[in-house]
Amino acid sequence: SSRGLTFVRQSHPRPVDANERTRLLENPGFGRVFTDHMVTIRYNEADGWHDARVEPRAPFQMDASSAVLHYAQEIFEGMKAYRLADGGTALFRPEANARRFRSSARRMAMAELPEELFLDSIRELVRADIDWIPTIPGGSLYLRPFMIASEVFLGVKPSSEYLYAVIASSVGAYFKGGAPAVTLWVSEEYTRAAPGGTGAAKCGGNYATSLVAQAEAIRQGCDQVLFLDAAERRWIEELGGMNIFFVFDDGSLATPPLTGTILPGITRDSIITMARDMGLTVREEPYAIDQCRADAESGRLREAFACGTAAVVAPIGQMKMRSGDFMIGSGGPGQTTQRMLAALTNIQRGNAPDPHGWLDRL
Ligand code: COI
Repeated sequence: SSRGLTFVRQSHPRPVDANERTRLLENPGFGRVFTDHMVTIRYNEADGWHDARVEPRAPFQMDASSAVLHYAQEIFEGMKAYRLADGGTALFRPEANARRFRSSARRMAMAELPEELFLDSIRELVRADIDWIPTIPGGSLYLRPFMIASEVFLGVKPSSEYLYAVIASSVGAYFKGGAPAVTLWVSEEYTRAAPGGTGAAKCGGNYATSLVAQAEAIRQGCDQVLFLDAAERRWIEELGGMNIFFVFDDGSLATPPLTGTILPGITRDSIITMARDMGLTVREEPYAIDQCRADAESGRLREAFACGTAAVVAPIGQMKMRSGDFMIGSGGPGQTTQRMLAALTNIQRGNAPDPHGWLDRL
């Protein structure tokens, strides 16, 4: 049984020097500054979940025949630890990540990590590396739990062994340059996930799939790719690694529904809840790219924003597609977008009441 699995803690013998750490935390960017420790837990059929450790972050030793290296049986999560206004530390809805990690595991035919063990692993790592939470505005400790198929076998079947790990990265803003709004390239050639596929699972393969389209977006002078549905190439789905929201002239919001091809974002869910708390109407409904363009041109569509744990809330100013460009609203951050960003970050930083109990203090 995995209940009450105790973590063997091994402190780093040579942690990064405090002055060097302070320097790194001044302008960490996203995903390049890593902490001293990592968590690992092993799974096999005979022992179940076992060998839980907090240890110095170090390269894995793995056999070149490990299943993940060949068939990409891999899942991950993204979440953050925040420094609160009162000096405390908190996670944001970590049980939602624990639940999604299990559902991703099910879709990828992997062993399901018990949610309590997931939560314990996150808390263990944040405690070990608490000094790595940046104090700069917008800074946080990005946590990356992931699991790989570690059986040494080249047959195509679910692995009988898994390695679960958590690493942590000190982060600032996801988009560099602090652009007022991002520009999207509408991918009309490549799609991300088909009906019946893995679109709703947080597996590495979904992100690998997005890269060629994201590279095309960059070549087109855009910041991010926007995917359409695979069946009709008509319905707006999501960005390479973020969900999308629209704000209309009547004050209502809309976002694509969770039909199995898009990632069920925790930030997405939080925004729906907060907007409804504010008395706003939020529809989860399909939105066609042609309608989006027509609404942007008529002024019915006032704002659009992307959201995710890494990106938080990012205004979308423009969309570009083969048939041309169009602007959304003023092209800059809209009022509702800014309101949602403030409402979310105020809860995450302990600057506002937390009516749904989303903050999980360490
Ligand atoms: C997130 O954590 O927001 C992600 O979806 C992962 C990636 C885009 C950084």
